[in-house]
Amino acid sequence: MSDVPYKNIDVIGDKSSDVVWHQASVLTEQRVSANGHKPVVLWYTGLSGSGKSTVANAVDKMLFDLGCKTYVLDGDNVRHGLNGDLSFTDVDRIENIRRIGEVAKLFVDAGLIVSTAFISPFLADRQMVRDLLPNGIFVEVFIDTPIDVCESRDPKGLYKKARSGEIKNFTGIDSAYDMPLSPEIHVKTDLASIEGCASQVVDYLVEKGIVAR
Ligand code: ADX
Repeated sequence: MSDVPYKNIDVIGDKSSDVVWHQASVLTEQRVSANGHKPVVLWYTGLSGSGKSTVANAVDKMLFDLGCKTYVLDGDNVRHGLNGDLSFTDVDRIENIRRIGEVAKLFVDAGLIVSTAFISPFLADRQMVRDLLPNGIFVEVFIDTPIDVCESRDPKGLYKKARSGEIKNFTGIDSAYDMPLSPEIHVKTDLASIEGCASQVVDYLVEKGIVAR
């Protein structure tokens, strides 16, 4: 396991002690019964180029076609906006995941099935998000693609740059990736088609009674 600080107090410190929670007039349970499915966070984790976004988007399309209310939060996109101020140091990656965890929690409150596609390399951070959410809501999806396969795909040419030293702190090269210990769903993209991988995730949701076909 990587030896990284769990909390960056300067960033996370509680500065909201005089703010009082406002009760919503539409309850999450009412949204759930209107949507016809339960909310859940599909938390995809895996190396860069492992296929997180591809599988997450394929699952999202299947769920959307089943009539589910869904949304995908993707690392490459969120880092252009909400998290555009964050780098790839350990501390910034922790803050990246903390913010996404909080956004995912809001989406769960809205009754959605939210998919997050972030490397999320540290066990402690994934546990932090799991703990942030009600029991059973956090579903860890390990996109388990060997690094040599990710590197041979190298869709953005980033592994090449990391190997040459042009990019520092690259996950799997000179920055750690903690493998999930017991993910709810374990997907091997080098052994199945995209559709097969996506079906594996949807089947899990059906089995657990989160979604009905
Ligand atoms: S995380 O580690 O903080 O969870 P995140 O998923 O948001 O990472 O962003 C990863 C994406 O940023 C990669 O898919 C890759 O395209 C790009 N990237 C740029 N620099 C790095 C780096 N040093 N390490 C990993 N990914 C990087």
